[in-house]
Amino acid sequence: MSSSENPSVLHSVADMLSKQVTKDRLLRAMVDRVVEELDAERGTLYLIDAITGELTSRVAHLPELKEIRLPPGQGVAGHVAETGKSVVVPDASSDSHFFPGIDKATGYKTRNMLVVPIRDDEDAIRGVLQVLNRKQGNFTDQDKLLLDSLADQVAQALELTSLRPIGDRARGVLVDGPFNNIIGECRLMTDLYDRILAAATTDVTVLIRGDSGTGKTLVARAIHDNSERHDGPMVHVDCTTLPAGLIESELFGHERGAFTGADRRVQGKFELADGGTLFLDEIGDLPLPLQGKLLRFLQEHAFERLGGRQTIKTDVRVVSATNANLEEKVAQGLFRQDLYYRLRVLELTVPPLKDRGPKDIERLAEHFLDQYARRHRRKARRLSREALARLVTHDWPGNVRELEHCIQSAVVLSKGTTIDQDQLSLPGTAGSSPAKSGYLPGTPLAEVERDHIQRTVESCGGNRTEAARKLGIGRNTLARKLK
Ligand SMILES: Nc1ncnc2c1ncn2[C@@H]1O[C@H](COP(=O)(O)OP(=O)(O)OP(=O)(O)O)[C@@H](O)[C@H]1O
Ligand SMILES: [Mg+2]
Repeated sequence: MSSSENPSVLHSVADMLSKQVTKDRLLRAMVDRVVEELDAERGTLYLIDAITGELTSRVAHLPELKEIRLPPGQGVAGHVAETGKSVVVPDASSDSHFFPGIDKATGYKTRNMLVVPIRDDEDAIRGVLQVLNRKQGNFTDQDKLLLDSLADQVAQALELTSLRPIGDRARGVLVDGPFNNIIGECRLMTDLYDRILAAATTDVTVLIRGDSGTGKTLVARAIHDNSERHDGPMVHVDCTTLPAGLIESELFGHERGAFTGADRRVQGKFELADGGTLFLDEIGDLPLPLQGKLLRFLQEHAFERLGGRQTIKTDVRVVSATNANLEEKVAQGLFRQDLYYRLRVLELTVPPLKDRGPKDIERLAEHFLDQYARRHRRKARRLSREALARLVTHDWPGNVRELEHCIQSAVVLSKGTTIDQDQLSLPGTAGSSPAKSGYLPGTPLAEVERDHIQRTVESCGGNRTEAARKLGIGRNTLARKLK
């Protein structure tokens, strides 16, 4: 498809693809690159809305218009979307497909244009890429070849975002949510998107709440990746897995000689995150003595390294997350109330999957199906009606993570193009691990325990923290038993 000797669009957006930047910013970066490469004045990237068939401009160099919507077939772009053939238009005003309405609305004068389809690997048309007004002379056939190959790269980039086809529909993409890889369009999620974007425009301290596996880490990334700090580091600290004796040094660093074995000065996460975001995951597990030090940091942006006297100031935005009931911890004296208020200047709640409605479950399932079929090179393309029905009635205690694992394992085991109900390893379906709920008397205890632990971990979508909590044992104990 794309030729490697050509200037690359993909290369210039590669680092964005792995981030939760907004789709608009990602597409914009690609169009900017294309316009520069073609020496044009302006460019537009249209996506075909898989549901309505309309062309919607996702990015246009049109300060005058926020969005353009073209009904199927209208304009040169609409024509290209229908025929799938690239066209060079040397003189727009005399071209029979040219739609003068947009110039009329914007006051911009289109002299000439070059318009090509965006096709995926399977030759399905996803959108249209156009450039307007070559700065010198007219667009050539050479330019056409170049734009065709850049459009292939745009298609490859789209595959890595949530702008994807619906099921196995041949045309268009599902335009869903503002972020690169966060799926969901229920009300709870669109409200969350608004709050993420609001959080991204300020430096206030954010607390993300939500059950295990709902997407809190993803939300934290979306905040960082869309904030002014996006070029700075995002440093992730999981307060649960840090060994108690090391947390302070991990977070705040230490001086040489601060404790036995401290043979050199080490920077902590608050220094490493300078200019960026520090993401404190499972903040409810931060030991009390350190809560005071964190509170001081939030108030003064200052701290001292362990064993040090010098006060260090860093420019760090703090985002924290928890699935614990912090109010309860405050009431029990395990969490400082003043810190609790400081952390939740802005609070975002990620909803449990079962509250998000069948549509979101379906979209997520299709998204994971698509993604894992590609990754594991499987033919699976769709879910059977029964499989889907099963997915939307399950209550997903492990939330999106559980759904992701469920689809991934079904995809790996799949042979044909359709995934059926019995390929889903959910309780109550044929593919699930044998439900040995009634153990026979005399079954060795170790066996019962092993089975019980395994099934609990599975029901938590593989999340050990959650499983340990349910089993009433510590994470370390669980890890040992799993070995
Ligand atoms: N809305 C979503 N769209 C697409 N993928 C999602 C979405 N929400 C979660 N995921 C995926 O589900 C998995 C779990 O998400 P994530 O790790 O962000 O959850 P979490 O709330 O941080 O869980 P934990 O409490 O265990 O830390 C990840 O692989 C993530 O990419
Ligand atoms: Mg997480």
